[in-house]
Amino acid sequence: MARLVYGVGSLLVILSFSFFVFYSVRAFNITPERSSASYVEPDYHFVLVTEEMDNDYWRLVEEGARKAAEEYNVALEYTGPKQANLAEHIKTIEMAAAARVDGIMAQGLNQDVSPALINRVVEKGIPFLTVDTDAPNSKRFAYIGTDNYYAGFLAGQALLKDTEGDVNVGIITGRFDSANQKLRVEGFKDAIQDDERVKVVAIDASQITRIQAAEKTYEMIKEHPEVNAFYGTSALDAIGIVQVLESIGMTDRVYVIGFDVLPETIKLIEEGKLEATVVQKPYEMGFEAVKLMVELKEGKEVSTYHHTLTEVIHLEDINRINDTTPGGIRLP
Ligand code: BGC
Repeated sequence: MARLVYGVGSLLVILSFSFFVFYSVRAFNITPERSSASYVEPDYHFVLVTEEMDNDYWRLVEEGARKAAEEYNVALEYTGPKQANLAEHIKTIEMAAAARVDGIMAQGLNQDVSPALINRVVEKGIPFLTVDTDAPNSKRFAYIGTDNYYAGFLAGQALLKDTEGDVNVGIITGRFDSANQKLRVEGFKDAIQDDERVKVVAIDASQITRIQAAEKTYEMIKEHPEVNAFYGTSALDAIGIVQVLESIGMTDRVYVIGFDVLPETIKLIEEGKLEATVVQKPYEMGFEAVKLMVELKEGKEVSTYHHTLTEVIHLEDINRINDTTPGGIRLP
């Protein structure tokens, strides 16, 4: 009897594993269709796993990656959870690895889980690059993205410079468990720590959605009416913060600094509703990641850190956007 149970159990494990591999291969479509006469077989098949598929920031990373994929004859799969979700993010990476794609690019999203996951992928012989968020304690080959601690530090310095008198800061961060968000908060706190006039009085997470950024801002203002400055650490946070401030007529009295330069961010700066934002280079991250992955596949040596430029911009800098001369801010 025990043998029978053991046998059936083993069969089930084998079957479910085979299904996982079968669906992973199907999901990543690694056998190309050869229907068109002009079809050129790609040299490599890479997967870019995002934190959230339809997020405007990630669409810019995708744009850059697609441009490089075109230049280097790579088939690129852009995929990830519809809404930010760590378990789904991890499963997508595992499926890409099971499908034995030629390279995976993704965030080292979670300090506890990502290193082991990345190591498993690399040990299977699949190169892994971290994009946007690093996992320095993993076997990833390189990191392409913002120095997140430094970016947070810059935000703190900007707030010190832009404000006078007592400042009570409310922080809306993307997710408490994301490594890049933690670093942005840490850098910010370190920058303001020696100035007695500036204090962080509350922090909450938006799950990187604009709606929750707005909800959390609203609750924070109710609980902490003394808040007179906000710091939003992921791309849609400042947009959600300003939405609430506008609805209660407080944009003039509250200082807001956010992250990223999406079209809506620029509009809010131009309207004077958002004082400053930290520039990241998502397009460049996507482009560089694909380019580096090709170099790795070709056996070239690549250096570990590829920090993309970051700086804080204000209203007076908006005319530098898309200025291609030195000192200009090229976007995407
Ligand atoms: C961060 C990404 C995050 C995005 C969410 C960006 O600022 O760099 O990690 O997924 O915001 O909107």
